[in-house]
Amino acid sequence: MRYDKENVPTIQVKTASAKYPVLVGSGILPTLQRRLPKRNRVFVLTSPEIWALWSKRFLSSFPKGELPSVLFLPAGEQYKRMAQVERLAAELASAGADRGSLLIAFGGGIIGDMGGFLAAIYMRGIDYIQMPSTLLAQVDSSVGGKTGANLAVGKNLIGSFHHPLAVFVDIDLLQTLPDRELRAGLFESIKAGVIRDARLFRFMEQNAESILKRDSKALEYLIAASIRMKANVVGIDERESGLRMILNFGHTVGHAIETATHYRKLLHGEAIAWGMLAALHIGCMHGTISSTQADRIERTILAYGPLPTFKVTAAKLFDAASHDKKNRAGIRRFVLPDGIGNASVAENVTDTELIAAIDWMLSKVRES
Ligand SMILES: NC(=O)c1ccc[n+]([C@@H]2O[C@H](COP(=O)([O-])OP(=O)(O)OC[C@H]3O[C@@H](n4cnc5c(N)ncnc54)[C@H](O)[C@@H]3O)[C@@H](O)[C@H]2O)c1
Ligand SMILES: [Zn+2]
Repeated sequence: MRYDKENVPTIQVKTASAKYPVLVGSGILPTLQRRLPKRNRVFVLTSPEIWALWSKRFLSSFPKGELPSVLFLPAGEQYKRMAQVERLAAELASAGADRGSLLIAFGGGIIGDMGGFLAAIYMRGIDYIQMPSTLLAQVDSSVGGKTGANLAVGKNLIGSFHHPLAVFVDIDLLQTLPDRELRAGLFESIKAGVIRDARLFRFMEQNAESILKRDSKALEYLIAASIRMKANVVGIDERESGLRMILNFGHTVGHAIETATHYRKLLHGEAIAWGMLAALHIGCMHGTISSTQADRIERTILAYGPLPTFKVTAAKLFDAASHDKKNRAGIRRFVLPDGIGNASVAENVTDTELIAAIDWMLSKVRES
């Protein structure tokens, strides 16, 4: 399949099962139609809020008689559910979608995960394109092929690997993103730098002001670097049997915070920021990172703050962290930084160390 990549820098994702381009730049939306593969029917999955902001620009490149059909999913994790996938599949069927139709998932990570999942199972699989509109979705969730929905008992417990045909990252979409959502995505980019790209980390360390002011060159650089990092990791380990686990840096304690606060207090990226601070503390105890390096990372995370606080006991967090999805046969797997720009999975983090890190992190929460 060829894509019109004119004037847009492109990153290739190449895994054991798929190969596709990620276009990153400005002005992709107004030129969308000619960049799409030719299909008789094109469908868009989006949310009413995003469509209200961006539909004019989205539709501007489509000829009048060839407008895509639009499906809506309301915003919020409570709609990331199987019942909605079924409803959307029924809407696709009654609108005449067939195996040759194309779906565009246009929105944040929820739309991306749900659109990908819908595309994975509708008629046993149709093609789709990711068009992420939050920073988190641009730097992280739109690349790598993980799709899915939540169950009442836990997040992302059903799903499938289904790679898109392409990912179109238009950084202009970030103009309407609320500040807090922007910062939440920036924490995932700091993670990307810490685990595998020291240059990206330094860039984020030194340019917080222009990044937070949404300087487009700065955003473009950090988005492309984060995607390149993720593309490289999933290219080596598509199904998370090894290396891909490092993407979970900060996520053991981060997910525990999300679970313990019932996903209501913090955005995902904010919980991960706190989780990275806890993981740094363990890294210092294990000697995988020096305290000077850990301080630099901590200062950089806090430069993109403020991090919202929360009230949870250490025991509750420890309990939630002990049920982490990465653990196997009772062995705790914990991603630790190896200096700045590298990370690995440790299997020897003890209960005492984890409790100490949680206590230390909670003391930071109380101070802030
Ligand atoms: N598949 C993966 O690999 C992967 C990785 C990380 C996270 N995720 C998933 O991603 C989801 C979180 O994604 P998210 O952080 O993008 O949240 P989200 O999809 O809930 O979007 C956040 C909010 O921003 C709004 N929004 C989106 N784009 C906007 C824009 N351009 N302007 C103004 N408002 C806009 C949305 O309507 C929503 O209210 C979670 O469900 C998580 O499980 C998946
Ligand atoms: Zn994350």
